[in-house]
Amino acid sequence: SVADSYSDPIPIAVIGGTGLQSLPGFTQVANLNVSTPWGATSSPIAVLHHPSPTTGKPIPIAFLSRHGLHHELAPHEVPARANMAALRSIGVRAVIAFSAVGSLQEDIKPRDFVVPDQVIDRTKGIRPFTFFEGGMVGHVGFADPFDSQLGDVVRKLGHSLEGDGVRLHDKGTIICMEGPQFSTRAESNMYRSWGGSVINMSVLPEAKLAKEAEIAYQMVCMSTDYDCWHDSADVTVEMVMGHMKANSENARRFIGGVLDELSKEEHTDLIHAKHLVGQTKFGGSIT
Ligand code: ADE
Repeated sequence: SVADSYSDPIPIAVIGGTGLQSLPGFTQVANLNVSTPWGATSSPIAVLHHPSPTTGKPIPIAFLSRHGLHHELAPHEVPARANMAALRSIGVRAVIAFSAVGSLQEDIKPRDFVVPDQVIDRTKGIRPFTFFEGGMVGHVGFADPFDSQLGDVVRKLGHSLEGDGVRLHDKGTIICMEGPQFSTRAESNMYRSWGGSVINMSVLPEAKLAKEAEIAYQMVCMSTDYDCWHDSADVTVEMVMGHMKANSENARRFIGGVLDELSKEEHTDLIHAKHLVGQTKFGGSIT
């Protein structure tokens, strides 16, 4: 059995997407049920201990399963505000978020990883998407939806795994659609004409809320299909799950490597988001 509380701040979190409901191979030391003004999180937050590669000292990592422990939440049902507020409240200032994506480009093959740098919002405005309402007015810049410093750490690590069969694309534009239905063929082709690289249903509002909460946020995409624009078979849930499962070992190594890298002393400022503090007037008020 594991503890139901953890006393130290936990600066780094991993959000697992479809096919990554848990992180086997890491030692779990606590399981947190955090309540927030925005309700309960998608899943309890698992606190894992990751040994620092330099000192061997355990570094705490928070892990949250976006779609619930048993994949029971559709993308439009994910309580993103509760998730981000809960993570912030336990000290999280850097989030690596994983997501299964469809590929909109021939060169991005199933099981390739993409570390995107841009987003196009095709959600329908039905998901609660901001902390700034009900008397608290605020605006944040969203020109660059991901944290480039965190992104660079992730890219460097991803490339170091390339010899082991990992293919990594250094940038890309994610189309975030509403779902839960997949796109029509006409939409899929339109997204390609817009310059979309990959498509998912999950980067928003997560990335917007991270900005508002001054959390450094980077998504890591794993391609699971060619959506429906491509000559190969149209996307199905089985296809997405199959590739995720087959590639879960690479995903786990990717995460382990990123955590190793982030645990290094030189990234202390980054994982405490020192470069973001004061960018919004939200400041520390959701902690
Ligand atoms: N997630 C994985 N594959 C997808 C696709 N083709 N469209 C939207 N979301 C996805």
